[in-house]
Amino acid sequence: MLTNFERLNVDKKRLVDYQHVISAMAGNYQFERNRANSDFVKLLDEQILTFFEAQKITKPLINRRNGIIKHLRKILTNKFHNSKLSSFGSFESGLSLSNGDIDLCLEFDGEPPKKVLKKIARMLNEDGMKDVKLITNAKVPIVKFIDTQSMIPVDISVNNNLSVYNTELLKRYCNIDRRVKPFILAVKYWARQRGICDPTSGTFSSYAWTLIAINALQTISEPVLPNLCLKNGSNLVTIGGNQYDVSMANDDIDFKSKNSKSVGELIYEFFTTLATKWPWDKSVISAGTGKLVSRKEKGWEHKKPYISDAIQDQKLVRLGKHSLPVEDPFDEIHDLSIVLDAQGVYEIRDEVLRIYSMLNDSNDWANLCQIKYPELDFGAPQLDLFADLRGKQESEIKDDLKTLYRDLAIIERSVSVRESERNEAIRMSKALRRNAELAREQSTLSAELRPRRSKINEVQSKRDSSNNNYIPVHFIEDELLKVYLSLTKESGTGVELSFDKEKALFSWFFELQSMHEHAKLTRKYHREFLRLVNQQEQSIEHIKDIREEIISVSSFGNFTDFDDLAKRLLIELNPLKKERRKLRREVGRLEAWLRKQSSQDSNRPKFKRKHSPKNKGSRDIKQVKNKVVSGDSFSLQDLDLLLKNGGLNSVNQQTNSNQKSTRKAKKNKPTLQPHRGKRGKSSKNI
Ligand code: UTP
Ligand code: MG
Repeated sequence: MLTNFERLNVDKKRLVDYQHVISAMAGNYQFERNRANSDFVKLLDEQILTFFEAQKITKPLINRRNGIIKHLRKILTNKFHNSKLSSFGSFESGLSLSNGDIDLCLEFDGEPPKKVLKKIARMLNEDGMKDVKLITNAKVPIVKFIDTQSMIPVDISVNNNLSVYNTELLKRYCNIDRRVKPFILAVKYWARQRGICDPTSGTFSSYAWTLIAINALQTISEPVLPNLCLKNGSNLVTIGGNQYDVSMANDDIDFKSKNSKSVGELIYEFFTTLATKWPWDKSVISAGTGKLVSRKEKGWEHKKPYISDAIQDQKLVRLGKHSLPVEDPFDEIHDLSIVLDAQGVYEIRDEVLRIYSMLNDSNDWANLCQIKYPELDFGAPQLDLFADLRGKQESEIKDDLKTLYRDLAIIERSVSVRESERNEAIRMSKALRRNAELAREQSTLSAELRPRRSKINEVQSKRDSSNNNYIPVHFIEDELLKVYLSLTKESGTGVELSFDKEKALFSWFFELQSMHEHAKLTRKYHREFLRLVNQQEQSIEHIKDIREEIISVSSFGNFTDFDDLAKRLLIELNPLKKERRKLRREVGRLEAWLRKQSSQDSNRPKFKRKHSPKNKGSRDIKQVKNKVVSGDSFSLQDLDLLLKNGGLNSVNQQTNSNQKSTRKAKKNKPTLQPHRGKRGKSSKNI
């Protein structure tokens, strides 16, 4: 059966790159007839098993990969405290091709993943890694790069813990039957070699091809694989606020396949099925249920724009959802075909038709998987770090090393000059910024003085006008009480107050009442007056303090000039530091090689040297180290002495210890930064 998009009337001009699709549309494929003979399939099986053997991950490759992970763990956990770096993907599931990538996940809660990835990308660039790319528009954002020395590609994601579970699932599937691994690797290899295994260019990911392969082994007439996803809620995990059921059966479950086909036969059947019974027309590939689930049942009908529309209309860059649906086993709402574009789908279809027709013409496995885009191939990982040195004379390498030391000394000097210039610029900027702050503070305070003085005068005149002879309120209140008691107390002797006396007391009482009102008002103004005077005094004190603190560096310009200078110097420093790291790495490599050679030589019998002058070595090595730091030329004897005494590292240690003392000195260095001093007493701090 032809798939829908091949039957549609698509303008052939848009399909020139897909010759097999055009051929199929023209009816040149006889899908019904199976032409492969059993001898060929047997040969194919042998070829795939040979290919599989060649893909075995060797000890040096494991060591190299572990070395990269160790290095990354060190720099990442150093930068992101309390983070954890774990490995997942094919390296852990055992489904890695010999040139497969390393997939790493950083668990870190401190900042949003995209921000963390941005920082990681910057760090990796500074660390001299190759082709560092930040991909943030994917479902799981990642940083991709290539380890410069080994050329091994690496992907780093953040808090992508679900992948750890689906990696475990793939691993368990591999353990069920010995044919699973070679089968999946063959599918992945074909997809990779034929350029249809790259989500960044609109084709399936390696993980998607793995799931397609697993599902094929689950759904053939005599299944080779069972379904291991239990979906019984026995293991629920929450990741990024979503809950996932990651329950899965162990790989020792009671399952024995009745299928006795060889890997070659399974591969032949896989591509034949893919070409003739394209599973995506009506179904969803579901390795999490072990079935082909109907699109309708899953609710994953193909959304517009369709593949056929998108291939014809260049403006339709995106494809509608669920073009070739592949369900993620533990994240059932995630369709791995979301990454596809129309060209990608046609390319996949074209390649499926290509391999189908070539299989029926009994082509070799090597021909079937001939690389399509050699320029995109990273090639085999470079595990022998000394490959280029093996044929070289020792003297030649030593000469190279001397040149490297000299180049390094020049770069070291350029870096250190710029670093100290930058530190100075930062110090000046800080000082000027502080000056500007102080000046602002001073003008605010000064601006407050005059209005406050008027207010003081106003309050003072109000206080004085309300009652010039200021009588304290408490005195009036005492007097009022006394008069009130005299007026209201019943006489014990029966003798009442005389009328005149009573009149006088009443009039005194009313007068006291009026005085009380005035006294209260006066007290209010008096307190306000004192508060304002106090404030005024403090402001004046404060202004005096500020004047003392302002440093006379204003003539140097504005702090923004120094900020710009610091920025410019940083921009100049970055490539220099990158170059320095590269040179240091190369120096380390050459030194390691020479050490290795000399340790081999030292196993040969040696003649003892007589009369070696005591302490001469320690005196000379200091001189040699100084020559390295200054970039002066030095002899082969100097180089030998340096190599025997720890190489460039020992020079770095020396400069580091110098740096430590510089840091100490810096601590004691008088700073341009104004310090608080007396200002702690300012009104704001009261
Ligand atoms: P890869 O695509 O790198 O697959 O995804 P791989 O199995 O490591 O294959 P090679 O050897 O690099 O070619 C790495 C892991 O990322 C998770 C899966 O756990 C996969 O094993 N992943 C990938 C997802 O969970 N979802 C995706 O859409 C893609
Ligand atoms: Mg991978």
